[in-house]
Amino acid sequence: MTTFRTIDEPARPLRVVQVGAGGMGRAWLDTVAASPDVELVGIVDLELDAARAGAARLGVPELSVDTDLARLAQNTRPDAVLDITVPVAHYPVTLQALALGLPVLGEKPAAASVAETLALAAASEVHGELFMVSQSRRYNDQLVALKQHAGLLGRVGILSTQFAKAPHFGGFREQMDDVLLLDMAIHAFDAARYLLGADPVTVYCESYNPSWSWYRGDAAATAVFEFEGGVRYTYEGSWCSPGLETSWNGAWRVSGERGTALWSGDDEPASEVDGHPGAPASLPSGGHEIAGSLAAFVRALRTGKTPDGEVHANVLSLAMVEAAIASKNSARRVDIGAMLELALAQAADAEQHDDVRRQLQSWDSASTALVNAASTAKVAPAV
Ligand SMILES: NC(=O)c1ccc[n+]([C@@H]2O[C@H](COP(=O)([O-])OP(=O)(O)OC[C@H]3O[C@@H](n4cnc5c(N)ncnc54)[C@H](O)[C@@H]3O)[C@@H](O)[C@H]2O)c1
Repeated sequence: MTTFRTIDEPARPLRVVQVGAGGMGRAWLDTVAASPDVELVGIVDLELDAARAGAARLGVPELSVDTDLARLAQNTRPDAVLDITVPVAHYPVTLQALALGLPVLGEKPAAASVAETLALAAASEVHGELFMVSQSRRYNDQLVALKQHAGLLGRVGILSTQFAKAPHFGGFREQMDDVLLLDMAIHAFDAARYLLGADPVTVYCESYNPSWSWYRGDAAATAVFEFEGGVRYTYEGSWCSPGLETSWNGAWRVSGERGTALWSGDDEPASEVDGHPGAPASLPSGGHEIAGSLAAFVRALRTGKTPDGEVHANVLSLAMVEAAIASKNSARRVDIGAMLELALAQAADAEQHDDVRRQLQSWDSASTALVNAASTAKVAPAV
């Protein structure tokens, strides 16, 4: 059930500790420093020098830094934790913060696997604390406008994303397996769920590595998802396609019974409805990227209304990634609901914390736990 402790003292900023001060951590530190809603009271990193460099970056070298969250929390009494560590650390760091009685805003993906994400959803229930995943690309006024255009099209049946970039990151990305699906595609998959307001049912996926690719793992993939109601979502992506690249958001097309909407990912979207340009109502801005998710997190803690990205609601975005990888590995269409139930059994088997394991075992099924959370949530508006 998605009810969580609120922090109902709007007169003062929320005191936050950030865990993880690497590449993305630096962007978060700048965003936290620029927000009047939060006050940074400490930085935790396994590499103390990274935490110190983060404090120095903000011009507060005297800020509390540590390698241990529990110790720093004891000394600084924060209201909340930002988990900007690497994906494999999301489960232990977020679980520790929730058990300390602290709500968490964490970078995507929620955890390294769907099973770990279900355990974190159960931990959030056990401790009554919010765990929100920052799916930052949802916070984009053009994406919100595309959804408004899609609302003019009558029944929507076809959605597609074409993503073509050619970045040379160096480092771990060029060595990892399934680099495109694991590191990038979740943004588009999550946006597809947002646009359709529906959930995925099955996926068939092929991934591959073009002969000139500079990545070890597959840098290109095509996935066809069936959503509720028979809607199809096709994702065609590549991280080794130099020339005439798409935007980082990818190029989107939505087709419905009365027309089509297009978005380049960088410009205002447009639509044609019954042969005329579509002109939907515009919505107020929900903020941009991580600043938008930080504002939504604070708003949720102030109001008790469930934000976009609350962990139960986010599980299926990561499940789309895992199911796409399972499909390309088995060369079969994968049933996402069945995969979710398997992940619940794995989560309960692996869970070492008795309270979290009991909570997982109390769920009738993973899908009902996610549906129940959604139906009991006081849902905050998307913007
Ligand atoms: N939203 C986006 O567009 C976007 C872009 C890039 C990265 N990310 C996400 O941000 C997260 C961080 O990525 P990054 O590129 O900053 O990685 P990074 O490797 O540059 O930095 C991670 C930092 O976390 C620290 N760390 C690791 N495990 C820890 C633990 N258990 N406790 C404390 N500190 C720990 C490391 O020492 C390092 O300083 C990842 O989940 C990644 O997927 C999101």
